[in-house]
Amino acid sequence: MIVLAGILNVMELKQNILGIEFTNPTVLASGIWGVTASGWRCVAKNGAGAITTKSLWDKEHKGHPNPTIISNEYWSLNAVGIPDAGPEKAREEIASYMADHPVYPEQSRRTPLVANIVSNSKEGFGEIAKVIAELKPDAIEVNISCPNVEDELGKPFACSKPDAAGVTEAVKKHTGDIPVFVKLSPNVNNIGEIAKAVVGAGADGITAINTVGPGMAIDLKSRKPILSNRVGGLSGRAIKPVAVRCVADCYKATDGKVPIIGTGGIYTGEDALEIMMAGASLVGIGTAIWDRGEEVFKKVCEEMSEWCDANDVKDLSEIIGSIHK
Ligand SMILES: Cc1cc2nc3c(=O)[nH]c(=O)nc-3n(C[C@H](O)[C@H](O)[C@H](O)COP(=O)(O)O)c2cc1C
Repeated sequence: MIVLAGILNVMELKQNILGIEFTNPTVLASGIWGVTASGWRCVAKNGAGAITTKSLWDKEHKGHPNPTIISNEYWSLNAVGIPDAGPEKAREEIASYMADHPVYPEQSRRTPLVANIVSNSKEGFGEIAKVIAELKPDAIEVNISCPNVEDELGKPFACSKPDAAGVTEAVKKHTGDIPVFVKLSPNVNNIGEIAKAVVGAGADGITAINTVGPGMAIDLKSRKPILSNRVGGLSGRAIKPVAVRCVADCYKATDGKVPIIGTGGIYTGEDALEIMMAGASLVGIGTAIWDRGEEVFKKVCEEMSEWCDANDVKDLSEIIGSIHK
């Protein structure tokens, strides 16, 4: 492991995916940390290979009232409800971040930005895709899989092949050569079929997974659900085996032809390598930030490098999708 001026040199973890240069495979997962350009810069300084924005709506959107999150060392349950100030604010923050110079001297460019979008209709997805594509983020992630807004939006689009494919087509009409990742739900019978449908509709990549459930936690004293929304999406350590299986299913169903951002319960370098063996090329990190701090990106890269050194792995291509070979 080589350390340059206190910054981990993770060149050996570098990959070029869909024409985007990632200095390492770690990606800030959507919605967890940093909703403004200054927050994204902070995550970039802490070594993330890419940043995903929180979900951006085609119009201002209110979230749920508090309490919206409950956590312990094993899991977190959230029903934040995807609050967003609307496209004007998104435009301002993304434009500010995209105008940045490289964060570290050894980086040839700023850390890539993945803009995550959401809507309650196919048309709305098309509209927000158009607004965001004009800002030229490095990639767009399409959130069709949030489980804690079902009261408001109905079943997520990710639960039906035609709906998932329809949203993908609506987005792709406006995104030109910007790669589009579609974010899938684990809460379906066959995630592989959904992955195949969105890739058939033009998705360039897949993000798997969004939160699991929804679940419920009850306060014994009041004998009532703790979250104001009653239910929320499960994330954190407990969901890693589900995420690993979902990534393996998506990779197999799409013959390993599109890159996958493997997300769900990734805390350590070994977790990251495990989900890569299932088929992920990039690794989303969310809830772990609350436990290991913003430095989690550097720590995970350091742990990955150490494991690769100890196990004589020279290139990540030896790891990615290894269970299928
Ligand atoms: C508080 C919170 C907010 C989230 N907000 C979003 C969001 O706005 N858009 C989205 O696509 N996913 C959102 N997610 C899901 C995460 O991006 C991620 O897919 C999920 O938490 C699993 O990864 P993890 O176990 O590493 O957290 C959110 C998760 C949490 C815990």
